[in-house]
Amino acid sequence: MQLLDFKNHEEVELDLCPQVNCLLGDNGTGKTNVLDAVHYLGNAKGYFNPIDSQNIRHGREAFLVEGAFALDDGAGEQTDRVACAVAKGQKKLLKRNGKAYSKLADHVGRYPVVMIAPADAELILDGSEVRRKWMDMVISQYDRPYLDRLMQYQHLVQQRNNLLRFFAENRVWDEGQLEPWDERMVPLAESIAAERARFLAEFTPEFDRIHTSLCKGRESVGMSLSTKVKSGEFGKALVEAREDDRRLRRSTVGVHKDDVLFRIGDHPLKRFGSQGQQKTFLLALRLAQVEHLARRVGRRPILLLDDIFDKIDAHRAGALMSTLAGERFGQVFISDTDPERIPALLRDAEVPFAAWHVTQDGVVAITEPSNTSTP
Ligand SMILES: Nc1ncnc2c1ncn2[C@@H]1O[C@H](COP(=O)(O)OP(=O)(O)O)[C@@H](O)[C@H]1O
Ligand SMILES: [Mg+2]
Repeated sequence: MQLLDFKNHEEVELDLCPQVNCLLGDNGTGKTNVLDAVHYLGNAKGYFNPIDSQNIRHGREAFLVEGAFALDDGAGEQTDRVACAVAKGQKKLLKRNGKAYSKLADHVGRYPVVMIAPADAELILDGSEVRRKWMDMVISQYDRPYLDRLMQYQHLVQQRNNLLRFFAENRVWDEGQLEPWDERMVPLAESIAAERARFLAEFTPEFDRIHTSLCKGRESVGMSLSTKVKSGEFGKALVEAREDDRRLRRSTVGVHKDDVLFRIGDHPLKRFGSQGQQKTFLLALRLAQVEHLARRVGRRPILLLDDIFDKIDAHRAGALMSTLAGERFGQVFISDTDPERIPALLRDAEVPFAAWHVTQDGVVAITEPSNTSTP
């Protein structure tokens, strides 16, 4: 993999290990930036900054990130070269094997890359919307009809809300006008709710298993769908909610109100989980997400673990390494401020890895990679 004028990196070439790659060094040296470059190759955009041109090294005109993906979908030995270039004032250019994409969306999903970063904590701490979006995002990656239904449903909710606001502003109330919206929303809501329930029924056991292995069974956690409407009763619920809808000028019931409850023991994780316990939960959640996708899409995503080792005890970190070593996971990138902690854990778990020292002056390989290159 190669980086040219990408964020703080002028020119970096990394001979990657197919298993684990460690970027080790002090804060602010550019470890996360290397992970972000991998994110660019997989997702055609950075994880952090949505404005591409701000990822060009200060004072330069363009950046280039390039890498080779080894495909492990059973189609034999094959590598794809992917390059992403951004020049000031120009359209982003993404190429696969020398050929430019006309639509970036055609690239997304081909080489799944999943980032696990400290900002993930919002998934536990914020309101229901982030968890609903998370669930919808995971399902949408392998179930396109679900995404279509979800978008149709959201559009209908907006239209219905506009109507409710119109009623309020004009001091009228005409239930008959709500009915056509309700009629179209009900089948979509029923189907979305059923799909979400099915997803969680499949996902939860995967999550439980990974979580148990990370904390060695010391904590019991769980997750469940929180919804106010029973299946088969959306039509009835919409009618019953009309008084509330009228008063609050918006649609107060439906699958746009669902949440996923995270628990530790019998209590909400948000209030009763320590920082380390919350971090373990998130880690298990993301790893389970990776496994779930791998199973549904038939391809193991590349995993980017950014600074996740703070506040995680040595036992859990060790268990994590053993989990990653399992064949269910693909290539991994890890950043850490401690130069020795991760390499020591990896040696103990007998996981092949490559490591680099990242400093203000550049990126220097520490261990010879045992094998060559993806991406
Ligand atoms: N476009 C850019 N040009 C130059 N430096 C940048 C650019 N974007 C970010 N940086 C620098 O990158 C550094 C942060 O790198 P980062 O990868 O987050 O460090 P860490 O090693 O702590 O993960 C900061 O010093 C920041 O100023
Ligand atoms: Mg960082």
